[in-house]
Amino acid sequence: MASESQNWVLVVTARTPTNIAVIKYWGKRDEKLILPVNDSISVTLDPDHLCTTTTVAVSPSFDQDRMWLNGKEISLSGGRFQSCLREIRSRASDVEDKEKGIKISKEDWEKLHVHIASYNNFPTAAGLASSAAGFACFVFSLAKLMNVNEDQSKLSAIARQGSGSACRSLFGGFVKWIMGKDKNGSDSLAVQLADEEHWDDLVILVAVVSSRQKETSSTSGMRESVETSLLLQHRAKEVVPKRILQMEEAIKNRDFASFAQLTCADSNQFHAVCLDTSPPIFYMNDTSHKIISIVEKWNRSEGTPQVAYTFDAGPNAVLIARNRKVAALLLQRLLFYFPPNSDSDLNSYIHGDKSILQDAGLAGLKDVEALPPPPEIKDNIPSQKYRGDVSYFICTRPGRGPVYLSDESQALLNPETGLPK
Ligand code: DP6
Repeated sequence: MASESQNWVLVVTARTPTNIAVIKYWGKRDEKLILPVNDSISVTLDPDHLCTTTTVAVSPSFDQDRMWLNGKEISLSGGRFQSCLREIRSRASDVEDKEKGIKISKEDWEKLHVHIASYNNFPTAAGLASSAAGFACFVFSLAKLMNVNEDQSKLSAIARQGSGSACRSLFGGFVKWIMGKDKNGSDSLAVQLADEEHWDDLVILVAVVSSRQKETSSTSGMRESVETSLLLQHRAKEVVPKRILQMEEAIKNRDFASFAQLTCADSNQFHAVCLDTSPPIFYMNDTSHKIISIVEKWNRSEGTPQVAYTFDAGPNAVLIARNRKVAALLLQRLLFYFPPNSDSDLNSYIHGDKSILQDAGLAGLKDVEALPPPPEIKDNIPSQKYRGDVSYFICTRPGRGPVYLSDESQALLNPETGLPK
């Protein structure tokens, strides 16, 4: 390690998106390597609205690897962090920064320690896939710091060992995680099917549903499903392989009717597998079910799907509208059924891309109660309202993959000390 002094700190910052699966990953054939029982497909969400930012630093003055998540120090001793760190370190190459007089050789990386600070721009407690963006950013930023010369798919196979769904966050747009065949997992990786420009009409509304119940984690839930659900075996063998091909076709042709039909069917089958697990797992709640019936009723009345819904391991709904006009109509319907608590105004009820409020003609609306009932409710019986059952909405769209942030002001670690700012 050649350098003028031992006080230097080298820093890299990156930003990585989260993703929502439209063909679900549920079940591992290898727990340690995180190898799935079927392929899956996801849409990357716009990192402007949902993302993880991570700064990694290296310095000869650090005496151990340390990590901070949302400002709080957390342990790096878990097997998943250790797998990712080990895989990245073993691929590190020489690094030279002439300006700072830093020279790190390939062999030095085994002895050097890193500091990692990570921040989610959305509430971690909201049950939105924070581990996907988190592990993807962990691997992506360390790979840059350690000058790992591997393509994005190879990096995805490392992020996979942090959390399965994380491998799909290494790309923007539409992404497929190929399950692979190798025992060592080398061919279980993500590939991009289409970038975020390919189908940019789509608008995504996430309903963050209030929940009192502690949910079963994906990791233990899917383990129980693998052990006890016959439906999971049938799904992995007979259903998903065909759906993957159909979904790839639907995305390629921007065929919204097929895309929506497949997305909803796959979400419902995933939750059916959860019910088929012993003891059964309930991720959706009454609010989730209510949202499904609102969308189903509307889609049926239009004759062709306008909106797709999908739910992960929790009650939050991810709704994908075919275009902005439909998204505006969807928002009107959702606000009709799920008005905000009287103490919150629309501006704090809708997060992310707030321009949807203008599009829906709701920007100046004082009283959501004034919204008329959607026309597909034909009877005159006033429909029930579910005030407070949705905490808030996030409006977003398909988005780009990971990026490095060169602007030092965006770093989460102090470039002099390597400690959180
Ligand atoms: C329902 O990737 O969180 O969101 O690999 O054990 O970390 P681990 O699980 P995780 O599972 C995600 C499950 C899902 C479906 C999906 O994202 O495909």
